[in-house]
Amino acid sequence: MSDVLRQHAEKQFAHELAALKNFDDRPKPPSWQLSPSAVITYLMGGQLPDGTEISAKYVGSRRLMEIAVSTLATDRALLLYGVPGTAKSWVSEHLAAAISGDSTLLIQGTAGTSEEAIRYGWNYARLLSEGPSRAALVDSPMMRAMQDGKLCRIEELTRIPSDVQDTLITVLSEKTLPVPELNTEIQAVKGFNVIATANNRDKGVNELSSALKRRFNTVILPVPDSSEEEIQIVQKRVTDLGRALEIPSEPPALEEIRRIVTIFRELRNGVTEDGKTKLKSPSGTLSTAEAISVVSQGLSLAAHFGDAVLRPHDVAAGLVGAIVKDPVQDRVVWHEYLETVVKERSGWKDVYRACKEVS
Ligand SMILES: Nc1ncnc2c1ncn2[C@@H]1O[C@H](COP(=O)(O)OP(=O)(O)OP(=O)(O)O)[C@@H](O)[C@H]1O
Ligand SMILES: [Mg+2]
Repeated sequence: MSDVLRQHAEKQFAHELAALKNFDDRPKPPSWQLSPSAVITYLMGGQLPDGTEISAKYVGSRRLMEIAVSTLATDRALLLYGVPGTAKSWVSEHLAAAISGDSTLLIQGTAGTSEEAIRYGWNYARLLSEGPSRAALVDSPMMRAMQDGKLCRIEELTRIPSDVQDTLITVLSEKTLPVPELNTEIQAVKGFNVIATANNRDKGVNELSSALKRRFNTVILPVPDSSEEEIQIVQKRVTDLGRALEIPSEPPALEEIRRIVTIFRELRNGVTEDGKTKLKSPSGTLSTAEAISVVSQGLSLAAHFGDAVLRPHDVAAGLVGAIVKDPVQDRVVWHEYLETVVKERSGWKDVYRACKEVS
């Protein structure tokens, strides 16, 4: 096992990718490592003719993933859009790994992202000593993706200031990156495309200009439909994470995950699962990603300070931390939920007591 804390998808799932390639007899778009249909198998999971298991990376609608993959085979870029924690970054990484065999060509969008980060920069020592030359140019991930016919990922596109976002227009429509200083251009090789992610919930995001919007196909990733689906996601990710971090605990009981997911869903939706009681929602997003963190943290507590079995006592602190983001308003919402729903639910006495202790 490698010492790297988090492997890139193409490394971690190298055996699955190699096996998929082996059995892939469908046509591949230029420069693609796999056919679109094999990419879908990689994302959604399945079994190959020789029995190799392909693990599911994305849990949810296959059709959405088909739309995302087929978009990348056209000349339009892909925008994965949605509320926080709906696997936008996760899907983007796996798409790049499966299609280009490389998920590392990544531009992180921030309020400080400059045009150079998207286009190219200069090695100033070289620029001063030799003047502008190709060798003095510092390639951006975008430029490398264009040269190699790979996918470039842009994380949090809408955090990038609008005028800098517009740098992408030429790249996306003309498929070229002009370098006026050298009186030349970098033309994209077949296989190049862009996957961007953006969320519509966080503060401090910029509008996407309509000129740019037109150049993207938007796929909205939804929060999991059913609680069964959400439980499956949490269980799978927690087990994977626990293994990667070598946390010495038992895999969490489904029942414990079910209760945490139920609490998250009820508060998020503002109504109990049976539809009978209306609830107030706290200010946080209570995403699936946060449910995964609450369970992982609980497992670590159980492993190192308990008997290695996840119990309500281990998750209570994480749970309250995820729900109470605003110390005044959220606390009121949480207490109301605790007293009216958790306390009265049969079989939930232990959850009630554990949460009461830390609230
Ligand atoms: N439908 C899903 N299928 C598989 N994993 C999921 C799903 N939804 C959430 N996850 C898990 O949630 C975690 C967080 O996802 P990710 O970081 O990609 O979210 P995001 O949409 O990029 O959020 P943000 O807007 O905060 O950047 C990942 O570990 C991912 O595995
Ligand atoms: Mg993200």
